[in-house]
This record gives sequence, C-alpha cells and structure tokens, in this order.
Amino acid sequence: MRLARHGGHETPRRTRAGSARRIVGAALATFLGAAVLVPAAPAAADSPLRDHAAQQGFEIGAALGVDHLQNDSQFADLAATEFNAATAENSMKWESTEPSRGQFDFSGADAFMDFAQQNNQKVRGHTLVWHSQLPSWVENGNFSPSELRSVMENHIDEVAGRYSGEVAYWDVANEIFLSDGSWRNSVFYETLGSDFVADALRMAADADPNAELWLNDYSIDGINAKSDAYYNLIQDLQAQGVPIDGIGLQAHLINGQVPGDLQQNIQRFADLGIKVAITELDVRIDMPASQSELEQQARDYRAVMDACMAVNGCVGVTVWGIVDQYSWVPDTFEGQGAPLLYNDNYQPKPAYDAVHEALGGQSDDDPPGDDDPPPAGPCDVSYSVANEWNSGFTGEVTFTNNGSSALNGWELQFDLSGGQQISNGWNADWSQSGSTVTASNTDWNGSVPAGGSVSIGFNASHSGSNPEPGSFALNGESCSVS
Ligand code: XIL
Repeated sequence: MRLARHGGHETPRRTRAGSARRIVGAALATFLGAAVLVPAAPAAADSPLRDHAAQQGFEIGAALGVDHLQNDSQFADLAATEFNAATAENSMKWESTEPSRGQFDFSGADAFMDFAQQNNQKVRGHTLVWHSQLPSWVENGNFSPSELRSVMENHIDEVAGRYSGEVAYWDVANEIFLSDGSWRNSVFYETLGSDFVADALRMAADADPNAELWLNDYSIDGINAKSDAYYNLIQDLQAQGVPIDGIGLQAHLINGQVPGDLQQNIQRFADLGIKVAITELDVRIDMPASQSELEQQARDYRAVMDACMAVNGCVGVTVWGIVDQYSWVPDTFEGQGAPLLYNDNYQPKPAYDAVHEALGGQSDDDPPGDDDPPPAGPCDVSYSVANEWNSGFTGEVTFTNNGSSALNGWELQFDLSGGQQISNGWNADWSQSGSTVTASNTDWNGSVPAGGSVSIGFNASHSGSNPEPGSFALNGESCSVS
C-alpha cells in the first residue's frame, strides 16, 4: 500500500547482519501467522495482561531498558510475561545507535530486538529523528541543508534498514511541535524547514517498506493547540501522498489529570484513516504517594485504557517502564514518582489491577458479580486422613496451582465443621479461628509455579465424628476438591 503511494525504491541493505535479521523476522512472521489459525483459549481471570490483550486483539506494551533486561531477572520476567509489545526505552535513539558520524553501534538495539523476538512481542521502533538524545555532532554540526539531509538519510537508512521487516511501527519523528502548536526549533527544522518530516517519512519508507510510519509527542492526549497542529500536519501529509500511518500519544500524565476529551481526540485521528496508540503512558504522583493517590492513579490508568479500547484504530497502550524504581519520572520531575504498574518490590499496584480489569481480567478485590466470567478453577485440592485414633487424627492436604502464573506466597483456608481442633502442623504456618483453618506458606515454600503442588499436614483432635474439611480456598479463590 505505502509503496504504491510514494513510489519509492528499496535501498539496498549493506550489513550482513541486516539480511540475517530479516530471515529471523520472516521465520517469526510465519510462526505467528500459523499461530493465529489456532483459536486461542480464553484467558483465565488471573492471567497476565498479555493473555487478556491477545483475546481482544489489543497490544499492551512496555518500554524496556536494555541494562535492566540484562541485569535484573525480575524485571526481565515481568517484561516477558506481562507484555505482548515492546519499545526500546533508549537503545534505538540516535545517541545510542550513531554516537559519532557513520559509526553505528547496534549492541543495545540488537539485544532489545532479540528479547522482543524471543518473547513474541510487537516492536515499536523509537525513534529516528528527534531533537533530544541527539549527539552533538548532529546538533552542533553546522551542516548545510543538503549535508544534514544526507546525514538524516544515512541514519534512517542504517537504523530502520537494519531491522527492516521486524519493526511493526517506527516513531519516525518525535516531538516536533511546541505546546502552542508552532514548530520546535530543532536543528532539523532550522536547517531544513518543516519538510524534514515528510523527507524523514519517505526515507523511512524506503529503508523499511513494511514498517508503519508514525509521529509521536507528549501533551497531545487531549484536543489542544498542539494536537491540532498534528491533526493539520497529518492532513497535509496525506494530501501530498507522504506515507503516514499513525500517531502516538505519549500520555506522560499527572495523577488525576487525564484529559476528559482523550477518547474524542483519539477518535478524530482515527477518522483520518490512521492508527493511534498510547505510546509512553505513566501517571506521576507527588511523593510520597498515599493509598488514595494510588487509587486515583488506578482510575487514571483505567480511563486511558478505556478511551483507547473504545476506538477502532487505537491499537494499544504502552507503559513507559515496568517498575517504579527505574522510571525516568523522579529524575525528570522533581518530587514526583511512583508512575508505573509495579512498585519497587515488583508487586502489582492498584494501577495494574485497573489495566488488568480493563482488558477483561479479574483482580483479587473485584467482588464477584453476574457479569464476571465463570471461575477459572485456580486450584485443586486433595485431602486424606493419614492416621486416626479415638480422640484425634492426622490430616494431609495437597493443593495444585492451576493458574497460568506462579504464586508468590499463598494462604490456604478451609473449614473444619465437626468441632475438630488443630494442635500442630507442618509445611505451613497453621492457625485456627472457630471452624476456619488458615495455612500460610513458610518462608521456603511460598513460590509455587503454574501447575505446581504443595503438600501440607496437621494433627488435630476430634470428639467422635470426624467429617472431612470443606470450602477450600487458595488466596481467596475457591478450589475444586478431587
Ligand atoms: C526518556 C527515557 O525514559 C530516559 O531513560 C532518558 O534518560 C530520557 O528519555 N519522551 C520520549 C522518550 O519520547 O524517549 C523519553 O524517554 C521520555 C519522553
């Protein structure tokens, strides 16, 4: 489609790695193509975000810092498990890929691409032409217009060309307007005028004919002078036949300040026939964050999810990081932080539950209601009496985690309705209140992989009759008994 529109030619790739990478991409595309023929099983209520997103044909992405992927396995695990789309937080930017003229360094970008491909994640390339994180040799190079054009062309050609066929979307130009809708005085605008955007889009189309070509900016989430400037520019580009496929709304938001016209704004861009995505979502809070602020933040995340999911053509939401401690926010906005879905201990925040629910999942504290999906059978229990004597017995319980993700800590509750009283137990911390027994993990058996089982046991007294226990529930969700 796009090739026909701009009639461009494909620039020959120069790197051997480039062609090798395309083969991997083609194999992956074949694999993914085959996979869609198999109807997907419904995601269990407590499944990761990406399972629910896949059910809806929606992309839930995260910005990934390559150093964290390489040095922090908890971070890498969450990145792989929860997200079906990925953006390189820094490693595809100009200062990372071409720190000095003609000297390309793809070590970080390649590591990011490998991770995304291993985990079947759709990649957003970020970003080709941007005034920030731009090396000084470009910014202060005093190039003539024709020199800067060829510097830009070579950069786009090398970077987008290297990953040709493997990047779903490129943020071709980033942050080109100011808040009043006027052009930002970048070296590109000053030297080349506003045509640099159309030029960059055409160059990117030549370098990777398969990638969708997007613009991206902050504070264009609602309808305002800056988003109007994009609205007008995109119509101009379309009228000139310049390839333009989408607009990314970064959505670096302040807690409690989701624009009321977000959905309307998304819709007006979609109505131009281009795609839209939320590309860099975070919601920053004045530190320290209180519980009620975290709940407000959850409502904000929900509102953004709902606005995107309500519009055909809004393809996905990407959060700008995973765990609060690595977010760019505290370094950039003094006194603000905690903007992401996971806290510093890698635990999901209320905002995570909100995103999960927006995608159709169910959170722990979501009260059961008529429109909830049927219980997914998170656990299965078997019970046996190992030994019994006139005033007591030994009971054994084995439970299996039937959920699709590992448990990190568990609590098994059940009822002993015949007046039995537990005296001691093993493989768990045991307590009893009335007929309700609670067994919680010890510090060595708290993590239970999906499909894993744990066996625990106890001694108890009884006074004649010894009915079997019932109402087994694991972490608050009832278990089937086999
Ligand atoms: C940020 C990164 O998160 C930081 O690690 C880096 O120091 C600066 O850039 N808009 C963008 C992103 O398009 O690339 C920026 O990312 C955040 C604002």
